[in-house]
Amino acid sequence: MKFEFEYEVYDSITELAPADQDLVNKAFEATKLSYSPYSKLKVGVCAITNKGNVVVGSNQENGSYSVTICAERVLLSTLSAQHPGEYITTIAISYLDWNNNSDKPITPCGVCRQAILEHQIQHKCNVRVILSSKNGQVYVIKKGSDLLPLPFSI
Ligand code: THU
Repeated sequence: MKFEFEYEVYDSITELAPADQDLVNKAFEATKLSYSPYSKLKVGVCAITNKGNVVVGSNQENGSYSVTICAERVLLSTLSAQHPGEYITTIAISYLDWNNNSDKPITPCGVCRQAILEHQIQHKCNVRVILSSKNGQVYVIKKGSDLLPLPFSI
């Protein structure tokens, strides 16, 4: 067996289609909403739904470290609360690190990959994922499940 997937690589945000640029810019903007006094890594995400609604999220940390919620899962919970029944068509992820750098695409943690996968299963949809940076390359993944081969599933 072999697992392969294709993704697009862009040298800068400016090479993206305008709608994708908008999501990436809003994801970067959402880093301002991050509460990350411990890691000082600000993660921002922005997604558009099947009905055209736009939702943002950011990482929310806690002194009891394991209580921390990643930006992606904050967004998924916000979506369920504010636009129940809707699903994500595209999500953009951005960040600003502890040195104020954002030079290479951020890639989501395994827990968030599992959460995005479940969103796809729940809504029978594909989530396009844009992994971005402010000043560097951007990757576009056709479906979130590509990021998690052999996932846990019952
Ligand atoms: N973080 C996210 O928000 N998303 C990810 O996919 C990976 C990690 C956050 C959690 C924590 O606040 C900080 O980044 C450092 O791990």
